[in-house]
Amino acid sequence: MRILMVGDVVGSGGRQTVKKVLPGLRRDLKLDFVVLQGENLAGGFGLTEETVAEMVEYGTDIITSGNHVWDKRDIVSRLDDPQFPVLRPLNYPPSNPGRGASSSGAVAVVNLIGRVWVGEFDSPFAAIDDLLAGGWAKGKPIVVDLHAEATSEKVAMGWHLDGRVAAVVGTHTHVATADCRILPGGTAYVTDLGMVGGMDSVIGMHVEEAMERFLTGVGRRFKPVTSGPMRFNSVMIEIDDKTGKAVSIERIDRELEL
Ligand SMILES: [Fe+2]
Ligand SMILES: [Fe+2]
Repeated sequence: MRILMVGDVVGSGGRQTVKKVLPGLRRDLKLDFVVLQGENLAGGFGLTEETVAEMVEYGTDIITSGNHVWDKRDIVSRLDDPQFPVLRPLNYPPSNPGRGASSSGAVAVVNLIGRVWVGEFDSPFAAIDDLLAGGWAKGKPIVVDLHAEATSEKVAMGWHLDGRVAAVVGTHTHVATADCRILPGGTAYVTDLGMVGGMDSVIGMHVEEAMERFLTGVGRRFKPVTSGPMRFNSVMIEIDDKTGKAVSIERIDRELEL
């Protein structure tokens, strides 16, 4: 089984890039399942019903999210619908709407959020231990998106889950890392998928506003880069159907002009 996991898609430029790249990858790489990080789909902040439908149309099965999932309030009431293909991190306190794991498709997907430099959440390590302890999604490959800032926290999660899930990938920094590997227990791992967004940017946002914040300490609202050179960052993971373990993980990165 072949799974593609796509990094944070930023704004309309990111969505256009997904439209140009993903259907071809789905066909040419014979992908069985696509997981896409969608917390920045709508104008760089949050998701909407329309932007989610767009990603599904281009070949996405499940959309994971992160700290920006609550930015567009209209989507929040939809998160409780088990048919709606969007997860919010599992380790937000359980009083929040939505769910952090989905086992309805061919691949079971878990969305976690990190605590180092991100926010005050329940432990992602304890949350996934609780989920797996009950034999959740038995017989299906399980892939995990840990949406986190610190590389160390993501590397630690890889070791924590090695041999218990098929893949652990990181998101949130929007910067792809070059450390794809199969851990000794058979779990595919990469610290960050990267992003789908403008290259002449600061993690997908216009350079001017981002620089102003760094130079003056005063923030203006960030706007996503929507044209010019774009990058599409993802990894493809191949899973042995018999053992449920990963046999390979490789970066699938593309660049194009919008
Ligand atoms: Fe993001
Ligand atoms: Fe994030």
